[in-house]
Amino acid sequence: MALREIVLMGDPILRQEAEEVDAFDDDLRELVEDMWQTMYHADGIGLAAPQVGVSRRVTVIDLRREEEPEARVALVNPRVVWVSEESEKAPEGCLSIPGMEEVVTRPWSIRVEGFDPHGNEVHLEADELFARALQHEIDHLDGILFPDRISALKRRMLMKKWKKQQAEAE
Ligand code: NI
Repeated sequence: MALREIVLMGDPILRQEAEEVDAFDDDLRELVEDMWQTMYHADGIGLAAPQVGVSRRVTVIDLRREEEPEARVALVNPRVVWVSEESEKAPEGCLSIPGMEEVVTRPWSIRVEGFDPHGNEVHLEADELFARALQHEIDHLDGILFPDRISALKRRMLMKKWKKQQAEAE
């Protein structure tokens, strides 16, 4: 197991469509273990493989500290198969955009299909925070970041703040 470096918004890998996983092998399981370790180290609740520089369709989520005891999952090749018409607004952040947070509107309930790291099929029905985390992480696999889901005005403000923060960090 090893900590991996989390890439930040601006890195082109975050804008690529990640590749489907076709081998459920030790390499995949090592990637997943590293992603768990990296996510916990960064104090996050979700992480997608492109965020550690690997353009493959893999994501991990752990919401147990948010009092969602069932919501710890490593998903490979996940896809959203159903979303509720009802949506919900809630603040969202991202380990690749540290320090930034904005309210994002998303369907409040979804169904997701995919595989675990051993190749077993996974069918999930999730709502509220779990549904939001799944959508956020699956977005990463399609090169989408949460600022893409907010209004143009709010996105401009966020990008301005982000650039200022990045410049100050240098
Ligand atoms: Ni994110």
